[in-house]
Amino acid sequence: MGGVCCKAFYFNALRNLRGLARLLNKDGHRKRIRSTQSLSLEAQVCGIVGYIGSREVAPILLDGLARLEYRGYDSAGMAVQNGQGLKVRKRSGRVDELARFVDANPVQGHMGIAHTRWATHGPPTTANAHPHLDCTGEFAVVHNGIIENADTLRKLLRQRGHTFLTPTDTEVIVHLIAASEGEQLEDRVRNALRHLEGTYGIAVISGEFRDRIVVARSGSPVLLGVGEGGETFVASDPAAIVEHTRSVVYLEDGDIAVLTPEGYRILDHEGEDQARPMDDIDWDIESIELGGYAHFMQKEIFEQPDSLRNTLRGRLVADEGDARLGGLRLTPEEIQNLDRVLILGCGTSWHSGLVGRHLIETLANLPVQVEYASEFRYQSKLPLDRTLVVAISQSGETADTLEAIKVAKERGARVVGVVNAVGSTIAREAQGGIYLHAGPEIGVASTKAFTSQLAALLMLGLHLGRRRGLSREVGREVVQALSKIPEQIELALRADDELARLALTFVDAENALYLGRGVSFPVALEGALKLKEVSYAHAEGYPAAELKHGPIALIDDHMPVVVVAPYDHIFSKVVSNVQEVRARGGRIVVITTEGNRDLAAVADHEVVVPETHELLSPLLTVIPLQLLAYHIAVLRGCDVDRPRNLAKSVTVE
Ligand code: G6P
Repeated sequence: MGGVCCKAFYFNALRNLRGLARLLNKDGHRKRIRSTQSLSLEAQVCGIVGYIGSREVAPILLDGLARLEYRGYDSAGMAVQNGQGLKVRKRSGRVDELARFVDANPVQGHMGIAHTRWATHGPPTTANAHPHLDCTGEFAVVHNGIIENADTLRKLLRQRGHTFLTPTDTEVIVHLIAASEGEQLEDRVRNALRHLEGTYGIAVISGEFRDRIVVARSGSPVLLGVGEGGETFVASDPAAIVEHTRSVVYLEDGDIAVLTPEGYRILDHEGEDQARPMDDIDWDIESIELGGYAHFMQKEIFEQPDSLRNTLRGRLVADEGDARLGGLRLTPEEIQNLDRVLILGCGTSWHSGLVGRHLIETLANLPVQVEYASEFRYQSKLPLDRTLVVAISQSGETADTLEAIKVAKERGARVVGVVNAVGSTIAREAQGGIYLHAGPEIGVASTKAFTSQLAALLMLGLHLGRRRGLSREVGREVVQALSKIPEQIELALRADDELARLALTFVDAENALYLGRGVSFPVALEGALKLKEVSYAHAEGYPAAELKHGPIALIDDHMPVVVVAPYDHIFSKVVSNVQEVRARGGRIVVITTEGNRDLAAVADHEVVVPETHELLSPLLTVIPLQLLAYHIAVLRGCDVDRPRNLAKSVTVE
């Protein structure tokens, strides 16, 4: 360790840090300290990539960052060990900006770490981009997560002479590592981590310890990729490294991994070796490339027949009218003893939960409650025994959903996950579950994950239902209808040109209403969310009958109104609601099912999807809504796959 500011205060700082640790552990309990100055917190929903081996590192890091950009994309940076010390390149803006900067200012070396950021606090400037350095420039850190006691630590380190260049919590980590003792880099990192409260996935390199990258995880996903001849990758998401290796090792919370040119070791917080299983990535590089489509969102919309086939594969038992879901790990007795189901999720996953309520209540004869995971966390503390909690998450990393699961478990619930990302934190935190197998979803606006979630929830309804008195006949009807869905989505996708033309007529609308009833109300919410996310037009989803209680005041000749009205038991009621809109001049588009002619008189435009069992209609009616949002966004010149201010996986509260 070198450096002017750190050396002089080294021992005092440690003494104080020990004092701080005592403060944090008062009465033998770990006390969570919440920052009072949240504006100085640096919270990320970002991507990490790193490499050590015999190849030139910069191109590997830049490619990896480009693959991770969907997770966060407001600034990016890298630090490379070139044999003499650390070279850092950072840029605000997209990864392209960084790539151009590195082209103009090349860096050479065989090990390095990199990061792409999505800021929630603190502007996305070049200075705030990762990696962050300590004041000597000896250590560099990239970090996902949030350090809750950063302000306290910063104050203490400042008193000891450390100079901070940014308001970020990540910078605190690197100063803390510089101020910690230890023979090897991993010892210093371990000693520093003892003082951190919050969540982190970090990768650290140093000018002094030239042969290693140290990686640690607590609450933010990190995995290692095992390549050829001892080379090792680190990433927050397998997408960053799948073109180099399919063999990955997911770190557990508390793990510290040491990567050297010869391979890797995983240690616990006492420095003891840990064995972690090696997993295989079971999807191809093509899954994360555009393959001829203009955008990932478009590609993923069109992938839905296949992603659905993958979700259903091997799970439907046609004769029995049942679904095989061994991953739930629930015995028939446990299912019979359930009193209710509680579904938790955020964003699109919450919408699929709202559809799921109808499916499970109807098929399994159980009351179902659906909550935003972020709200549930702070609700009453009533016990949840005999309750099955279903946590829905595409990424498996959404912080609100993860925390909600923990709360539910504490309250006695049995928790199962409906998750797409294999090996993700929610998948591991749940006590069982259903993987979607929809393949990686890159477009920030969720599409194929939504339909796969619906299919998974239908199968869950069937599975619970068949163990709670649902007849084989009804089960068979659902299974039969479900097995036809992939083909029917292919047919629904044929309306693409029609929706592209329709988009032309709506492109200038700054507001839109989406209406539906029953299972179609959440579809209306999802259609409105898609439009908001990708086109920045304001859209609201409403239960069609609620229109007259307020939003009808908004309707005039310019207001587009999209009505989701499959031909089901509530259809005639929806027609009456649409007539209320018609009478006030709204521009009406109706999404309905084949063979239904009753709407021609009230709709300006009808989009028809194939007919199906009424519980399954959301799987088809959502397709035109996805296409409509996509085409409107393209016409408006929006960045469809990376909408402003959004991130694919939100790992902060
Ligand atoms: C973010 C994404 C949404 C997504 C939500 C929940 O807000 O932008 O598209 O629906 O998170 O994500 P999850 O991965 O838990 O399904």
